[in-house]
Amino acid sequence: MDWVIHYRTLHHLHMGLALTSGALFAVRGAGLLARQRWSQHVALRRLSVIIDTGLLITALRLLWELRLNPFVMPWLQMKLTVLPLYIVLGMCAFKYARQQELRALCYLAALACYGFIVSVALTRSPWGLFTAW
Ligand code: HEM
Repeated sequence: MDWVIHYRTLHHLHMGLALTSGALFAVRGAGLLARQRWSQHVALRRLSVIIDTGLLITALRLLWELRLNPFVMPWLQMKLTVLPLYIVLGMCAFKYARQQELRALCYLAALACYGFIVSVALTRSPWGLFTAW
């Protein structure tokens, strides 16, 4: 019983952090494209890092608690494959892209990656939202 409560708390924490991470990225990115200086504010940048670190820690803890090997489970493999892409595209949008068009492209592609990761998690299928097709 205790384990179930512990697992549920962890699971909710992971989902909450995933949602907060995506929402913060979406809002900051929209601010960036609208050339709002607050989107690059150091406090928001730090908050993003803290939330993303928490998200990864809860992911690792879930793997440990459920005794799951992410390298043999296709939906977890897909998450691990798309996650770096999401991070790189996010860095491209916020840091490396100089032209506004490229920033927008990286931002939208990162959001698409994020949405796909959530769909993979919800369907537990490596094809995520494309499963039914
Ligand atoms: C942007 C990154 C991520 C997002 C948005 C995300 C999102 C989610 C969501 C929404 C769920 C709940 C699914 C459900 O119970 O219906 C979930 C569960 C889970 N995620 Fe993540 N996740 C991310 C990264 C990761 C990573 C990197 C791993 C490790 C490979 C991971 C491992 C897990 C595990 C083990 C579960 C629980 C599965 C279960 O309870 O059976 N997640 N994730």
